[in-house]
Formats: sequence, structure tokens, C-alpha cells
Amino acid sequence: MRKTVLAFSRITPQMVERLQQEFDVIVPNPKLGDIAAQFNEALPKAHGLIGAGRPLGEAQLKDAGNLEVISSVSVGYDNYDVDYLTRRGIALTNTPDVLTESTADLGFSLIMGSARRTAELDAWTKAGQWKATVGPDLFGSDVHGKTLGIVGLGNIGAAIARRGRFGFNMPVLYSGNSRKPALEAELGATFCALDELLAKADFVCLVVPLSDKTRHLISRRELALMKKSAFLINISRGPVVDEPALVDALQSGLIRGAGLDVYEREPLAESPLFALKNVVTLPHIGSATGETRTAMAERAMDNLTAALKGQRPADLVNPSVFKG
Ligand code: DGY
Repeated sequence: MRKTVLAFSRITPQMVERLQQEFDVIVPNPKLGDIAAQFNEALPKAHGLIGAGRPLGEAQLKDAGNLEVISSVSVGYDNYDVDYLTRRGIALTNTPDVLTESTADLGFSLIMGSARRTAELDAWTKAGQWKATVGPDLFGSDVHGKTLGIVGLGNIGAAIARRGRFGFNMPVLYSGNSRKPALEAELGATFCALDELLAKADFVCLVVPLSDKTRHLISRRELALMKKSAFLINISRGPVVDEPALVDALQSGLIRGAGLDVYEREPLAESPLFALKNVVTLPHIGSATGETRTAMAERAMDNLTAALKGQRPADLVNPSVFKG
């Protein structure tokens, strides 16, 4: 019997063709009406789901009686209720590693863009405001030689730290659950408590996964610990930052600026952030390059295919479900 796959996002038509060699594939199509309704209708037939950006837990999956695997085209898996999936024996896979360098590139571009005000000054130039050489009111801040604070020195955090240390001569501080001696040796990085990092860093870069421990890790108290001249960069998950507190900090000059790729609610259609010049707002594009999204989707297809064939997928988030 051919198994059924519901490909709900991030899978190109060519990739669907590849999956069709082994599985029946259902792809919700916006031209055919409501996507959520099509997803829900297909769910009871599906043995595998592949995609990203959709919260999936008990409420959404109660009719998914055949489901064996969810293959997320993302490294983060905060959208999924892992305990529930594990209780149901549903494998969950993600796509680590392949997006590390692209996401670090984007993180560093937020450091550069917020410090050198590139988006703001691009809009200013295009609005025809460049009548004379720019004065101090439009000056930015240096990046080279400044202190880089990495909150969460995992793969992506380390890749950002490498860019800062070796490309921009930045001393690196990091905080997290455990010390990383090999990275300390490679990067000359110094481990410290979050409060100390916040007080010393010129760029505070958030690269932690979202969990109960990291939700609102950065709120009013933490923002008040930062230097007035510092920038907050968030490429992890929006809820790691208390957004109203950040808006107040940016409005009142408690910190100099921010570079954000993620928000408490996405997509962000309206926000007090939009009125602020000292914040760069990007639409969650950490991994959004052609090369990287292709690599992620291919890795996710490999994980999905392995699980549906009873083989152990490479990137299993909940290993206890896999008995093969
Ligand atoms: C991820 O993979 O978790 C990134 O946020 C891109 O979706």
C-alpha cells in the first residue's frame, strides 16, 4: 500500500514529483479555496506531514489517525507539542546544520544594518533627502572591535561569533546552560552570566531555542541592564523577547537600537515597531536563501522518506518513538 504525504509548505513542485515516485502526495492549493480546510480534510489520510510554520499539537492532530511522522522543514521545533507527539508514537524530525551559515549571515547583517542604519538611510536616500553631506544626526555606530554578546552558543551562535571574532576583531562573550571549552579556545570567547553579558556587550545577539525557560528571557529588567549605546539582535524566536518592553526601551532611548527577524506574533502585519527608526524589522528570513531552503527541504524529504519506510531518520527530535 502506498502511503500518503501531506506537503503543506516549503516543498517545490519538482520536490513533490520526487515524493510522488514513492507516495501519494496531497498539496493544499490556495487556488482551490481555504488552505486550512484542505489541510484538515487531508489529515486523516496522511501518514506523513512535511512543511513548516504551522503549530501542531493535540487540537490540530486529533483526526490524524494514520500519522507516523512530521518532517519539519526548520531547525526550530517550538511549533510542535513534542510530548503529545511522543505519547502518540509520531516521529518528529527537523533540519539542523544545513541552515547554520545562512542564518549566521543574516544575524550578522542585522548587526551591521542596525549599527550602520542601512535600511533607514536607504529609505532616506530614495526619498530624495540627500541634499548635503550627512551630519552627526545620521551617524551610525562602529561594529569592528566592539564586544559581541552571544546568548546561546550553539551552532548558529558560534557561526555568528566566528564572523565577529575573525572578520571584525570583536571580543566575544557568551552565556548559556553550559560552558563550551572547544569554542572558548577557538574564539577566545568568555563565558559569563546573562546579566554580566547584558551589561558589557555592545551587541546582544539572541540565538536560543524557545522553551519555557527562554520565554521572555529579555524583558524590562534585562533591557535596563544593557548599555544605552547597545543593540539587541533577535534571530531566535519572537517570544524570547517581551516585545512591548522592547518597544518602550527603543522609544525611550534605554538602548540604541535593535535588529529583529522574529516577533511574538508572525506574520507581523502592524506593530508600534514600524514607527521606530532605530529598529530593523525583517520578515523571519534567517534561512530564506534559495540554496539553503532547497537543502532544508531535501533533508526534510530524506527524514520523511526514511521514517515512512521504517528506517531511523537522521534528525529525530523524539528518538523514543522509533523502534526500528
Ligand atoms: C528554523 O528553521 O527554525 C528557522 O527559523 C527558519 O524557519
